[in-house]
Amino acid sequence: MRRWQGDSIYFGGDYNPEQWPEETWSEDVDLMRQAGVNLVSVGIFSWALLEPTQGRFEFGWLDRVLDLLHDGGIQVDLATATASPPPWLTRAHPETLPRRADGAILWPGGRQAYCPSSPVFRERSLELVRAVASRYAEHPAVVMWHISNELGCHNAHCYCDVSAEAFRGWLRERYGDLNRLNDAWGTAFWSQRYGDWAEINPPRAALAFANPTQQLDFLRFSSDELRAQLRAEREVLKTLVGQPITTNFMIGMGVKHMDYQSWASDVDLVSNDHYLTAADPQAHLGLALAADHTRGVAGGDPWLLMEHSTSAVQWQPRNVAKLPGQLRRNSLAHVARGADGVLFFQWRASRAGAEKFHSALVPHAGPDTKVFREVCQLGADLKALAEVRGSRVDADVAILFDWEAWWGVELDSHPSVDVTYADRLNALYGSLWRAGVTADIVHPSTDLSGYRLVLVPTLYLVRDADVDALHAYVAAGGTAAITYFSGIVDADDHIRLGGYPGAFRELLGVRTEEFFPLREGEQVHLDDGSTADVWTEWVHPDGAEVLASYTDGPLPGVPALTRHRVGDGAAWYVGTRLDEPATDRLVARLLAEAGVRPAVSAPSGVEVVRRRDGDRTWLFAINHTDTEVRLPAHGVELLTGGHCAGELALPAGEVAVVREDRT
Ligand code: GAL
Repeated sequence: MRRWQGDSIYFGGDYNPEQWPEETWSEDVDLMRQAGVNLVSVGIFSWALLEPTQGRFEFGWLDRVLDLLHDGGIQVDLATATASPPPWLTRAHPETLPRRADGAILWPGGRQAYCPSSPVFRERSLELVRAVASRYAEHPAVVMWHISNELGCHNAHCYCDVSAEAFRGWLRERYGDLNRLNDAWGTAFWSQRYGDWAEINPPRAALAFANPTQQLDFLRFSSDELRAQLRAEREVLKTLVGQPITTNFMIGMGVKHMDYQSWASDVDLVSNDHYLTAADPQAHLGLALAADHTRGVAGGDPWLLMEHSTSAVQWQPRNVAKLPGQLRRNSLAHVARGADGVLFFQWRASRAGAEKFHSALVPHAGPDTKVFREVCQLGADLKALAEVRGSRVDADVAILFDWEAWWGVELDSHPSVDVTYADRLNALYGSLWRAGVTADIVHPSTDLSGYRLVLVPTLYLVRDADVDALHAYVAAGGTAAITYFSGIVDADDHIRLGGYPGAFRELLGVRTEEFFPLREGEQVHLDDGSTADVWTEWVHPDGAEVLASYTDGPLPGVPALTRHRVGDGAAWYVGTRLDEPATDRLVARLLAEAGVRPAVSAPSGVEVVRRRDGDRTWLFAINHTDTEVRLPAHGVELLTGGHCAGELALPAGEVAVVREDRT
């Protein structure tokens, strides 16, 4: 790992000066200085300008931009510029274009139009990386390298012949011999047995459900192919540059196809892009979850928010603008949850192109705007918070998350389409958020010993080693809660026989003989007053105590919620989809049993998170309500310079950060 943090919290955004006449550039730098911007990402979509024809590079304009930025004291996160191939490349090599599962070619004209397995794309893109890195390795403005951009955002899956051949190579590597592949894919079913590697294809459009393990392996392969591009660019960079290297992930926006947990070791710092679902009034919960997940992927280290928006985006059906104060709350919520930098897409709102209605730090209307004033305010805030950088976030709760489990659980031909991976994750996370409790969202293989409570939403696919580790964690005194449709299959998507929830039967002390998914809109009730829907199952206790049973629905009298003592701890099973109040009550019981308390006890709608560095702690409090609230706090209020002795008064919509005096 190369050290990446500077003297302050990073603040800035994507800077695309190539969209503007040079006269604008010096005004840009002046405004950046005025706003307190200290880092901009440059060159992300510049391939066609940097290399207008193959092998002919034009760096003059970028030289001038970087020099100007440096003179203005603005640091640069320089892109490898490989995000989108130039038209000359696809014209010369149409075989680099990706194909959909139905064979349709995806043409250039948008962005990212390349097949991730294309050797031609790989070769040409690495030539560009080499040229850019050689030229700017020593440029004093450059403090960070930005590989590609949101790898896989549009081209995560390609079904072309080149991809098919690469897929076969990947499968040979994974299985060694064809018999093992046939076993893993269960090809005795539907006459699918393969006698030659050449018979295997990606799961292209077919008449009936494609083989599930073929689908799963294709998802693994596709994530690995994009990762290979990341690694190849990184290898080139590593030989030429000394600055830290990153690429922007898209964690927490429903982006499913890249297993970022496996990619994290390929970057020096984890950076993430996050955009709100603007129409959702609870969007700040999704933001918090994304930030906690990014921190989990980063192994708890500080991370960088590479992109978010100052106000509306342009790609949602209705692009709701941020209300006054929301930009600040959003940005500082990321910092509360471990971001040591807050960057945006983009510096100046474009006047042409598909993103011209996307907000920016400098809007079309110029600097005399709410947005730019809030940007300047944020710049000042982040300056005042410089001391928190490098600190970590306190979390006593872990939520287990695995991209492979996500891929597995959402394959077709399952008991109910209403079982999705995000559903229970969001539900449990929401209850924790409302309780003021911060969670790390981590991979099942993470060392869990430091957590008081571990929540396991819908872990359909799970490895034996991770099951054993969770068992050991509980036996040693931990508390765990697992929700339905977990532990069902192994890594090959084969059912774990003997009763559900397969891998977790022993830990949970239950055995389910049959699933009884509910009809659309159907509800069931439990004898503890809870309401649930979507899912029920015929659970038999096998050592577990029954905490609640159904009073109606297909399984009256059958247990819905159980608890099993294991060693010094306990494992809870939630066999149905509890509604929000019932989930809140369940989580409150789990927190009480595990002895987990909120960062401070805060009124509802107030987000509280604590960052810590040794003995020093900072309390972040974000008031999402429209009334002033009071919460307990002692220390110096970094954003106002005030002091709170016992109580913090936090006006509606405001944010406070207190350097705590806890003696
Ligand atoms: C991101 C992307 C940016 C810009 C932004 C708009 O996905 O990295 O280049 O397109 O979205 O919200």
